[in-house]
Amino acid sequence: MRKNTMLALPHSDLDAQPGDVRGLPKSERDALIINATQVDGQWVIISRYGDDAWQLDGFSSNTQANKKWLDFSTIPQALRGVIKAILYRYLRRGRYGASRPKGGGVRQFFSDTRPFLRHLQTLEIDHLGAVTPLVCSIRSRERIRDSNRTFPVLMCVSTASNPASSTTRRMSSFGKTRFAPRLIARRNARYVVIRPVCPDRPTPTREQDEDMNELTRWLRDQPSLTGTAPPLDLSGLPADPHELFDTWIRAAADVGVPEPRATTLATADADGRPDARTLILKGVDADGWQFAGLRSSAKGAQLAENPAAALNFWWQPVMRAVRVRGTVREATPEESAADFGARPASSDAAPSDWVLWRLVPERIEFWQGSPERRHTRVVYTRAGDDWTRRA
Ligand SMILES: Cc1cc2nc3c(=O)[nH]c(=O)nc-3n(C[C@H](O)[C@H](O)[C@H](O)COP(=O)(O)O)c2cc1C
Repeated sequence: MRKNTMLALPHSDLDAQPGDVRGLPKSERDALIINATQVDGQWVIISRYGDDAWQLDGFSSNTQANKKWLDFSTIPQALRGVIKAILYRYLRRGRYGASRPKGGGVRQFFSDTRPFLRHLQTLEIDHLGAVTPLVCSIRSRERIRDSNRTFPVLMCVSTASNPASSTTRRMSSFGKTRFAPRLIARRNARYVVIRPVCPDRPTPTREQDEDMNELTRWLRDQPSLTGTAPPLDLSGLPADPHELFDTWIRAAADVGVPEPRATTLATADADGRPDARTLILKGVDADGWQFAGLRSSAKGAQLAENPAAALNFWWQPVMRAVRVRGTVREATPEESAADFGARPASSDAAPSDWVLWRLVPERIEFWQGSPERRHTRVVYTRAGDDWTRRA
């Protein structure tokens, strides 16, 4: 633990600190002030982000001194970083619609979470993204045996395959707690992971929650970014984005994405009104990204009027997406005929209506999600025959 530091620190500096540590370099992140107090007109920094333990304030006067500390050495090492980040957000932002938490609330969360984190450790789970309903259910059952009080970390809310609205109501009662529920639904079982807030999207108030229709409520309960991103070495990226695409689409296939070459093609008409549909990426070569369809289709008409287009791939299990923007050119009639001939039989289309197009890319973005929402974006931009890269 660090010694307290005497420092002339304007309080506005503390207020100006970010609400989230995502994207901050380690040195900047570790220097963030967690707690400071004024002594004889001087600000004394009590804890910084990088400290092994944070000392908090805002406790009732009879709180024992050792209960004012969050000692991160008691958290499994692999999960320490993410728990610190969650607690920092919670400390800085509080729960949506509520003031920032006091020390007692934060400390309570910290101690409530620890048993669950140790449970993850025994399962050799080293990141929250790997927490599955099965993991939760084990924990939930343990907690239910333990006591009757609200389960602070995880709660099994329903085992019904079609959860009734009562489930939602029971969930919204969690709004009173200082935690935001996140629902994981799989195999007819529903579990809630409770995390201290604040999520990027605000937690609805009870009134807002009641105003939502059932579909909206259901949509908001659905999980997102539940995949597991493979390691990504930003120092080893290829100069040519097509090489990276080759690696990523094969990695998606390897983990079982059923149709990794299915992509969304966005086009726009002459007035700039957008349209999009799913189709198949037929090939990638030096001349462009190939796709095919009917000239008489909406995309055929739109591309004839406005040859600008974009492709978007999303491979859920690896939390990866690729976006490609560029200009579309029609392939030669021979190439279109060859593509038509290579299609599976039984189609009503006429060869003369079939077109192979190539999207000539100007910008290719590789996006990899992270459960802690520290997403990675690598953007390649064409500069003549070469590509520039920004990560
Ligand atoms: C998985 C999947 C693959 C598809 N592949 C193609 C394709 O390769 N070419 C095509 O024209 N339409 C394909 N379609 C159908 C299109 O999504 C769309 O319905 C059709 O192209 C008409 O779109 P448009 O009217 O906007 O041109 C596919 C649809 C799905 C769901």
